[in-house]
Amino acid sequence: MKCRKCSQKAVINMRQHKLGLCKDHFLEWIPQQTQRFIEKYRMFTPEDNILVAVSGGKDSLALWDILHRLEYKADGLYIGLGIDGGSGYSDESLRCSQQFAEVRGLKLIVVDVKERYGSTIPELAQKTARGRDKPCSVCGLSKRNIMNRVARQQGYDVLVTGHNLDDEAAVLFGNTLNWLGGYLQRQSPVLEADHSGLVRKAKPLCRFYEREMAAYALLRGIEYIYEECPHSVGAKSIYYKELLNRLEADRPGAKLHFYLSFLQAKENGLFAPPEIETQDLKSCVSCGQPTTAGELCSFCRLVELDYAVSR
Ligand code: AMP
Ligand code: FES
Ligand code: ZN
Ligand code: ZN
Repeated sequence: MKCRKCSQKAVINMRQHKLGLCKDHFLEWIPQQTQRFIEKYRMFTPEDNILVAVSGGKDSLALWDILHRLEYKADGLYIGLGIDGGSGYSDESLRCSQQFAEVRGLKLIVVDVKERYGSTIPELAQKTARGRDKPCSVCGLSKRNIMNRVARQQGYDVLVTGHNLDDEAAVLFGNTLNWLGGYLQRQSPVLEADHSGLVRKAKPLCRFYEREMAAYALLRGIEYIYEECPHSVGAKSIYYKELLNRLEADRPGAKLHFYLSFLQAKENGLFAPPEIETQDLKSCVSCGQPTTAGELCSFCRLVELDYAVSR
């Protein structure tokens, strides 16, 4: 297969776009497309201070690389979760993130959960009924809270994450299987800060397939952690991704179509507003982020509990 732009040998064939590109044209195409998505969904502008949540994986490091190439003002935030899994998962992901930042002279903020809150994520999860087997929901809750806190306290205009199309389509699939109206309403490439405790969020890679991001990271020579989080084994999201990949193999473009037609349906008013109006939410007395859970939000309750136990 040949590159559509220069007829050299293509390194990637994107069947959903009927588009093959050589290395140079692919590495040019990805930032151009990203810039299009940033503008289309009004994610941010060159004046904004951007905080990129980096996990050390291919997507978030590729995103930081792209934003840097596009000359946006983007710092990184790495959250040390304290996950070992026998392979030093967190240590290795920190190393990849730090190395990336150092080589490019970029600022990386590091928050170590154990240092800041007294326990690692798996330790915090042990204290909840739901988290005992799998720390993933406690982990998600904690990451969201910490990302918001750092972005707000340090004056960033927008927080961006490396979620790709495969991630978004799998979440959409799960939400649709269960018709979770509130979650469907809030799933979006850009989410406004509709509460004083929140920061605006954006997902500039939401229209790229995971394989495109892997190819981009590889061709750009980015060193990232290949391994998935050891706790993700058996996760529903991975099962949904496999199902969607089977569909995609038979019908190239099905995944992209699923996601884009959802966004279109939402624009056409398919989903009613969520039941809980965010302005009716209370603010957590400790961190100021929205909560339905009482005086303290679920995360602050979790870490308070932990302080009490460890004291
Ligand atoms: P995940 O929830 O692991 O699929 O990750 C989705 C996105 O969340 C990544 O692309 C990152 O932008 C962000 N993220 C995940 N883990 C971390 C972490 N430990 N520190 C900072 N950001 C993270
Ligand atoms: Fe959080 Fe795996 S449990 S990344
Ligand atoms: Zn070419
Ligand atoms: Zn709180």
